[in-house]
Amino acid sequence: ELAARAHILAIDDVIRRTLGAAGKTINDIDIVAATAGPGLIGGVLVGWMAAVGIAQSTGKPLVAVNHLEGHALVPRLHAASASGADGATSVDFPYLLLLASGGHCQILLVRGVGKYDMIGQTLDDSAGEAFDKVAKMLNLGYPGGPVVDRRGAMGNSQAFKFPRPLCDKPGCDFSFSGIKTAARTFLNKINPPYSDDFINDFCASFQAAVVDCMINRLTHAMQDSRVIMAAPKTLVVAGGVAKNSAVRASLEKLAARHNMVFAAPPMNLCTDNGAMIAWAGLENYQIGRVVKSPIAPRPRWSLTEM
Ligand code: KG4
Ligand code: ZN
Repeated sequence: ELAARAHILAIDDVIRRTLGAAGKTINDIDIVAATAGPGLIGGVLVGWMAAVGIAQSTGKPLVAVNHLEGHALVPRLHAASASGADGATSVDFPYLLLLASGGHCQILLVRGVGKYDMIGQTLDDSAGEAFDKVAKMLNLGYPGGPVVDRRGAMGNSQAFKFPRPLCDKPGCDFSFSGIKTAARTFLNKINPPYSDDFINDFCASFQAAVVDCMINRLTHAMQDSRVIMAAPKTLVVAGGVAKNSAVRASLEKLAARHNMVFAAPPMNLCTDNGAMIAWAGLENYQIGRVVKSPIAPRPRWSLTEM
């Protein structure tokens, strides 16, 4: 309820300021795209109804975007805008995607817009949640990912032995709650305040466990029959956790070992942003996916139900 009210207070100003900063008016807009789920439904409804209002009053086409599809497709925006400029490779379908955010951790085979195969997913916490919770235990603030990343880069990743849940098992699913519990157990034995060196080593060791799990599960994913059949040439990481320097570096090496190209969105397009929703809206519009009659936004909406 609080989030929904905050959205109502902010939405008009956000739209006005965004148009102003771009030097555009509402008449310059070709397509209206908005998130229709998944997410905390009060906030989603406010954004969705604003988009419906704009589309109806201007007669412009309306596209309902799945938030996760925004993360999944935005690496293609980077490739589209950077092509030629810095030699960025284009991210063509099919590609193998690790989608790691605050709410999700999934390995997907992306066959096209709206065409996703779930290869693996977390059985409990998301990767981002694990970063946030460990940071909270260390009193490092919220969101935890960026600070754990920074501190971990200065630490020794061998200092603490965190578990690697499921890594001795077949399959591509994740489990991060065991890593979190291990962190709590370590910290219960030591009285704060923690020294800078301790925090750096702790962050580095925790992060190494998360990265090892990602590498292990992605290696299994590459042996999944659906993935072998599709033969994706590109390994992509997206979502807020894709900002993580250790994650990016390790996945780049993994891709190289498997003769795949590695791609990730630029940093500002990894965490939640409006550009990724606009881009997914455009890609859906291009295949004719527009809203013709009223729809209800969805609190839950898997990429496999597009
Ligand atoms: O994709 P996102 O912005 O929101 C969701 O859709 O959930 O992801 C937010 C998550 C947070 O858990 C945050 O701690 C994490 O992304 N994150 C990072 C880093 N930057 C953000 N995790 C690890 N390393 C980072 N550098
Ligand atoms: Zn997100």
